[in-house]
Amino acid sequence: MSRQKILIDTDPGVDDALAIHMAFADPRLDVVGLTTVFGNVHTYQATRNARHLVEMAGLVVPVAHGAEKPYQQAQRDPAHFIHGAEGFGDLPAPDPQRPADPRSAARFICDMADEHGEDLILCPIGPLTNLAHALDLDANLQNKIGGVVLMGGAVTVPGNVNAFAEANIHNDPHAAEMVFAAGWDVRIIGLDVTEQILCTSQHLEDIALGAPGIGGFLRDVSAFYVRFYQDSRSFDGCCLHDPAAVIAITDPDWFSYETAPVKVVLDGEGLGDTQIVDDSSRPHVRFATACRHEEIRDHFIATLKSTDQRLVER
Ligand code: BDR
Ligand code: CA
Repeated sequence: MSRQKILIDTDPGVDDALAIHMAFADPRLDVVGLTTVFGNVHTYQATRNARHLVEMAGLVVPVAHGAEKPYQQAQRDPAHFIHGAEGFGDLPAPDPQRPADPRSAARFICDMADEHGEDLILCPIGPLTNLAHALDLDANLQNKIGGVVLMGGAVTVPGNVNAFAEANIHNDPHAAEMVFAAGWDVRIIGLDVTEQILCTSQHLEDIALGAPGIGGFLRDVSAFYVRFYQDSRSFDGCCLHDPAAVIAITDPDWFSYETAPVKVVLDGEGLGDTQIVDDSSRPHVRFATACRHEEIRDHFIATLKSTDQRLVER
C-alpha cells in the first residue's frame, strides 16, 4: 500500500500534538517533515516541541524552523493561556536531542514539493506564514504539489478570536490571503466543522489507557487545554481542530464541501475573517461545511490508542 505523503506545518500547541501523533500512528500516512511557525507558542518553542514529538514517536522526521513573525502585520502574543507557557499545557519545556533541519521551513517546503510533486499534500495547522514565504521562493509551487488541506478559518460561522476571525488566520491574515489566492487545490477545514468534533476528558483517559506512553503524554498535555474549555465553554473536553485536517486527508468522505472563492479581510474589525466573494477572477477553494463528527472522533481515539503498539512494531 502506498502511503500518502504529507508535510505538517505546525505551532505545537496541544491540538497540534494530538494531530501529529495521530498522523505518525496512521499507517496510511508518510509524514515527510514538520515545519514550524508561531501562533500557540513562539517559533523557537514550536520547533523544540515538534522535535520532541518526533523523538517520542521513535521516528527520524525532519523538523524545519519557520517564520518567527507574520508576513506583514505586527506580531501578537502567543496563546499561552490556551496551550500553556511552553505549548504543552502544564508540562515543562522538553529537551529533544536531535537538531532541526538546517533549512528554513519555506525552503524545506519547496524542496519537498520538488522531491515529491503531486504525491505531496501540505497540511498547515497553524498560521500560513511559511506557505506564503514558500510561494515567494518558488513562483510555480502551487502547480507542483497535490494540494493543501489546512485547519483555519470560519467561513459560515463566527470566529474564535472574536466574532469574525479564527486564530490561525487572525495570526497572519496576509499570508492566508496569499494561500487562498494562489490557485492550488485548497481545502479549508475551519471552525465550520472542527467545532462539531469534540473529544471528552474520558476519551483522553481511554487513549492513555490504551497507549500509556504517547497516549499518557497526550492526556497530560491536554489537561491545561481542557481547563480552558471547562472555563470558557463549560465543556469537559476539547475540539479536535488540528486532527480534523489530518483526517480530511486520510478519510475525505467524512467531510462535505462547498466550492467558492474565499478571501481574507485584511483590515478593520473583521481582520482575519474568511469570506465567500463573488469574484470570478479569483480561484475557487473548497471549504468544509459538514462532517461525520462521530466517525472522525472515533477514528482519532482508535488511532491514538494504537500509538504505543506501533512504536514497538517500528
Ligand atoms: C487553531 O488555533 C490554534 O490555537 C489551534 O492549534 C488550531 O490550529 C484553532 O482555531
Ligand atoms: Ca495549531
